[in-house]
Amino acid sequence: MSTKTWWRDGVFYQIYPRSFSDTNGDGIGDLQGILEHLDHLKGAPDSLDIDAVWLSPIYPSPNFDFGYDIVDHEAVDPAFGTLELFDTLVQECHKRDIKVVLDLVMNHTSHQHPWFLESCSARDNPRRDWYLWADPLPHRRPPNRWKSAFGGSGWEWHEGTGQYYYHMFLREQPDLNWRNPEVRERMFQTMRFWLDRGVDGFRLDVFNAYVKDNLLRDNPLKLGRRPYDMQRHIYDLDRPELLEVLQEVRKVTDDYPDRVLVGEPLGSDPDIAARYAGDGSDLLQMVFNFDFTERPWHPAHFQRAIRRWDSALHPNAQPCYVLSNHDVSRHASRFGGGENSDARAKVAAAMLLTLRGTPFLYAGEEIGLKDTPIPYIEIKDPLGKRYWPFFRGRDGCRAPMPWNSSQHGGFTSGQPWMRITPEYATRNVEAQKQDPDSVYHFYRKLIALRRTSPALLHGRWLPMIAKPTRVLAYLRECADQTLLVALNFTNVPVRVNLCSALPPYRWKLRLSSSRSGHERLRGTSTRISLDAFEACVMERAR
Ligand code: GLC
Ligand code: CA
Repeated sequence: MSTKTWWRDGVFYQIYPRSFSDTNGDGIGDLQGILEHLDHLKGAPDSLDIDAVWLSPIYPSPNFDFGYDIVDHEAVDPAFGTLELFDTLVQECHKRDIKVVLDLVMNHTSHQHPWFLESCSARDNPRRDWYLWADPLPHRRPPNRWKSAFGGSGWEWHEGTGQYYYHMFLREQPDLNWRNPEVRERMFQTMRFWLDRGVDGFRLDVFNAYVKDNLLRDNPLKLGRRPYDMQRHIYDLDRPELLEVLQEVRKVTDDYPDRVLVGEPLGSDPDIAARYAGDGSDLLQMVFNFDFTERPWHPAHFQRAIRRWDSALHPNAQPCYVLSNHDVSRHASRFGGGENSDARAKVAAAMLLTLRGTPFLYAGEEIGLKDTPIPYIEIKDPLGKRYWPFFRGRDGCRAPMPWNSSQHGGFTSGQPWMRITPEYATRNVEAQKQDPDSVYHFYRKLIALRRTSPALLHGRWLPMIAKPTRVLAYLRECADQTLLVALNFTNVPVRVNLCSALPPYRWKLRLSSSRSGHERLRGTSTRISLDAFEACVMERAR
């Protein structure tokens, strides 16, 4: 694999547009705000230097689920800007060699989408079958026991036409009927609409829910915490017919050069995720595997997750890794917060950016951003409202980006739509750029190292400690380069033995998160010493 492919070799950066940067003082981040911060991403001397941005939905939305409930898939929400401004953004990104990936939500629409309004208007409306309607069982019970992933029944009664409609998420997000060829063709048209504008690919929101069982069979039950988790989702997710649908989706993008599809599956089973990457030829180029977002801070857990993902995927499929996104607590909080959160953030970053697979960063993680605590009365996320205080929702990880130490972190001159991190005066982009030891500069160094290291881009991954308890260590190796990555997950210095099969190589240090200058590996020994929370990369001297 020596030819360069941007989405295999590049680093992706997810932007949640509402929270990136507001330029008109309405408190809501906008496309202009992204345009004005492109220097942060690429092209300036102290840029992070990423290769692609993925924008969470920018389409018009009544925001019951903050952009994931869409009323028009071929427009830009006025709060974010205009289609013309979007075109400018794509052009400016391309000038800097940044690819632009849009978030495409094709499983459902908003209940205010004109298609759904038509579908609701009468049983014989031509768009009736664009959504999933079913008759009630006796006593007007829902058609089956399928649950909404956001709580409650997946079925909503529609008095006007005397049937239920299905929604995998909120009742304000009715599911489209992907068995209807008109629906498919209409969504493909939307894909072409954006591809024709120069968009480089799509992140497919909950793609594994597109097709449901046509007999509406009930899922088998299992143990779980929430009612939704108490079912094995074999009839409302992952239907066999889906593979054919995804091949059609892939064909749409294959008509354009060099585009990519990244799928977001609901659920976190690596074997199921791997199914949709196939052998890389005709399904999705990448599929998220959310294993990392569920692992506690322990090297054995990550090693297991990497091994599982590596063995689940076909050798030609491209792995991808993610630590944080807009749906989970930020990893700087998740892995323990506290005074060592930056040290752990560096270890985590070193892992993410030295694995075999495309790394996905979530805006803010490059400055070690943590979740913002949001008081109950300010909760916006419908999940937080529903499950408080057991689950406080996803607002904390969606709080605005702090750019500098001015009021509201320079995110807005007005009142931000959601409160900013209480740390903004000291933890912000500007401050991190000025501090050579910051999380930000460590990300920059890692990205630069990755870009210039064939072993990190294409080499195989070989664990170097069979049962890690304190240190995660692995080789990345290709024909002309061997790198050793060693990550101390603990707050004390350690000395550990690497795999005895490691040949007697001589090593030179390429990168370390520790300032001390001591040697990590002496001579040809396989006993490595690391400082507390040290993340280091060594290269075999030739
Ligand atoms: C995806 C999105 C999430 C959204 C859901 C419903 O999981 O990542 O934010 O709520 O789909 O669209
Ligand atoms: Ca704005």
